[in-house]
Amino acid sequence: MTISDYLDPFDAARQAAQAIGERSGTPQHDVAIVLGSGWGSAAEALGDVVWEQESARLPHFVGSTVPGHGGRVRSIRRGDSNVLLFMGRTHLYENHGAVPVAHQVRTAAAAGCHTIVFTNGAGSLNPAWLPGTPVLISDHINLTGASPLDGATFIDLTNLYSLRLRELCRTVAPELDEGVYIQFRGPAYETPAEIRMARTMGADLVGMSTALEAIAARESGMEILGISLVTNLAAGMTGDALNHEEVLAHGNASAQRLGGLLASVLDTLAVRN
Ligand code: HPA
Repeated sequence: MTISDYLDPFDAARQAAQAIGERSGTPQHDVAIVLGSGWGSAAEALGDVVWEQESARLPHFVGSTVPGHGGRVRSIRRGDSNVLLFMGRTHLYENHGAVPVAHQVRTAAAAGCHTIVFTNGAGSLNPAWLPGTPVLISDHINLTGASPLDGATFIDLTNLYSLRLRELCRTVAPELDEGVYIQFRGPAYETPAEIRMARTMGADLVGMSTALEAIAARESGMEILGISLVTNLAAGMTGDALNHEEVLAHGNASAQRLGGLLASVLDTLAVRN
């Protein structure tokens, strides 16, 4: 069951959040994390799992069809914080539209989260960022032509990826670089010509998620942190072809370090909020 044309997306999100609250026994969550391609194993480092379920069993979530995109939701207790962890996401290229892409994000807000951490696997346009490098997202370019917003919703998108949270990340990992993420619709990887275009536009990282979700998160008033894991150099930058299995493998190889990074970020968030 996806969100129907007759249901307000925020009502849909409230229904999903209520189900999470009842089923997890945790009526209020503080921070949401979305784990993208290659970040799956980072989940184990985040704290005590209080509850876990397939996301598709929650109201109005669509099942994930993408290998490596787990499609599970967890409630995690870490210190004094309740963390809502989404392992997987709905992508625009799955052809359900932008509202189902935003549903998970709106659910996090309805569950009480004041902060959301988006992670993804991304191609790098910067040859210095080799596979396995985590990079903070400083801003995005939404090249999808889509939006999760309805009608004349003229929201501000300056400082979308919170400078405060990026600086806070650098207190735990000073070496973290940052860059502009460009979201293509996919599902094909880009052509080398599209990557040259993206570079001219000012992009440093390329992927098929996050920008639409960040727009929905801003609309819902959450503070946003974005971290890309470089899984490959973007199309045309090496002599090699791109394939999904290699993208996932590079991610999984770095997962332990990423889990440690996310866990430290959560601890710092809890102290500074
Ligand atoms: N392009 C688009 N999406 C991606 C890439 C890429 O090179 N790597 C991981 N996700």
